[in-house]
Amino acid sequence: MTTSREDSADFLAAETEVALERAADPTRHDVLFSRRAANIKQSAVRDVFDISIRPGLVSLAGGSPYLKSLPLDDLGRTAQKIIAERGLEALQYGGGQGMEELRGLVCEVMAAEGIEGAVPDDVVITTGSQSAQDVAAKVFCDPGDVILCEDPTYVGALNTFEAYEVDVVTVAMDENGLIPDELERTIGELQAQGRSIKLLYTIPSFNNPSGITLAADRRQQVVDICRRNDILVLEDNPYGMLRFDGEPLKPMRADNPDDVIYLGSFSKIFAPGVRLGWALVPKHLYRRFYLACEAVVLCPSPLTQMLVSAYLTDYDWQGHLRSMRSLYRERCEAMLGALAEEFPEGVHWTTPDGGFFVWVTLPEGIDTYPLLYTAIDAGVVFIPGAAFTPSDEPSNKLRLAFSAVTPEDIVEGVRRLAPILRTAISELDA
Ligand SMILES: Cc1ncc(COP(=O)(O)O)c(C=O)c1O
Repeated sequence: MTTSREDSADFLAAETEVALERAADPTRHDVLFSRRAANIKQSAVRDVFDISIRPGLVSLAGGSPYLKSLPLDDLGRTAQKIIAERGLEALQYGGGQGMEELRGLVCEVMAAEGIEGAVPDDVVITTGSQSAQDVAAKVFCDPGDVILCEDPTYVGALNTFEAYEVDVVTVAMDENGLIPDELERTIGELQAQGRSIKLLYTIPSFNNPSGITLAADRRQQVVDICRRNDILVLEDNPYGMLRFDGEPLKPMRADNPDDVIYLGSFSKIFAPGVRLGWALVPKHLYRRFYLACEAVVLCPSPLTQMLVSAYLTDYDWQGHLRSMRSLYRERCEAMLGALAEEFPEGVHWTTPDGGFFVWVTLPEGIDTYPLLYTAIDAGVVFIPGAAFTPSDEPSNKLRLAFSAVTPEDIVEGVRRLAPILRTAISELDA
C-alpha cells in the first residue's frame, strides 16, 4: 500500500511530465498569436542575407551602402566627445519628436534635395524610414483598407503593410515610373468596389528594386490624382540624393505640403547603423503621426541623433556624398557592362540613373525563385522578383544590387549567373 505522500509524489511526477511535454511543444502558444501576426513574414532579403555572407559567394543580393570611406577614426573621436561632454543628454531619454537641432539640420538636407521651407516643427525623427512606414500604416489603415504601390516595390514596406492586414494593390510602371492613367484606372476600379484607399506608397527616385525613377513631368500628375481622390501620398525617398549625375529630381512633397508625407533616411547618405530617418508630415496630420511614433520608441536614440547632427555640422557630408555617387556610378556601369557582355538574348534590364539596383527581366514562363538555389551553388546570390510584389504568382524578374560589391566582383558574379539564365531559357525552349 502506498502512503498518501507517495501518491502525491507520483501525482507530482506525472504533472511534471505533462508540463515538460507541453513546454517542449513549440506550437503551444500558436493560439495566442493575433490575426495580424499570421501576416508577418521573413522577407526574402533576410532569407538570403545569411547565405550571402558565406565566404567565396558574390552577393548581388543585399542593398547595403558602402561604408568603408567614412572617416571612422574621426567619427570615433566625435562619439567619444559627445559622451564625455554631453553624456547626460546623449544617454538620457529625449523628446518623442527627436532633437530640435537634428530636425533643423534635416530641413537643410531636404532643402538640398529640393524641398524648400520645411520647418523643424513638421519633422519627426524616426528609427529609419522603415519605422515611419509602420507608423503610417498604423495611423491611417484599418484591416481591409487599400494601400496603392508601385509594381515592383520595396519588400520591407510590403511586409509592414501586410502586417496591418492592409490590402496592397499594385499600379503598373513603365520605364518612367508609375503610369498616371493606370493609377487613375486602378483608383476608379477600387472605388467602384467600395474599397477605402488610404495611401499611395511610392519610391519615386531609383525605386527599390527596379532602379526606375518617376519622370519629373509625372510627379505632379500623380499627386493631383491622389489629391482629387483624397488619398495621401507616402513618398519614400532614401535614394533621392544618390543620383549619379546632376541635381536630385524635385520630390513630390516640394510643391505639395498638404498631400504628401515625405520619408527621408540617413541609412544611404550616412550609415544605416545609426537607425535614423525622418518624416516630414503635413501640419494637420502631424500630432497623430508623432504621437504614434512616440508610442513605439518613446524617443529616437539621442546618442545617434547627436552623432548624425555632428556629422552634418562638422564634416563635409555633401563632399562625401559626391564621392559616393561616383563610386555607385562606377559600380552600376560595371554591372551594366557585364550584363551586356554576359547575359543571353531574351533577358532585359533597367538602366538606373542612381540608387543601388538593376532589375532584370527573363522571358515569360521562367520562375527566378528556384534559380536562386542553382545560383548559390554557382557562387552568386540575387533576390528573386517575387519578393517585391504582393502577388503570390511566380516571377520572371530578379534584383541585382551593385552598391556593396567591387566592380571586379560584380563582373564575376554576373559571369557566374549568366550560364544559369542560359540553361533556364534553353529548358523553356525545349
Ligand atoms: C525604399 C526603401 N525604403 C526604406 C528602407 C529602409 O530604410 P531605413 O534604413 O531608413 O529604415 C529601404 C532599405 O533598403 C528602402 O530601400
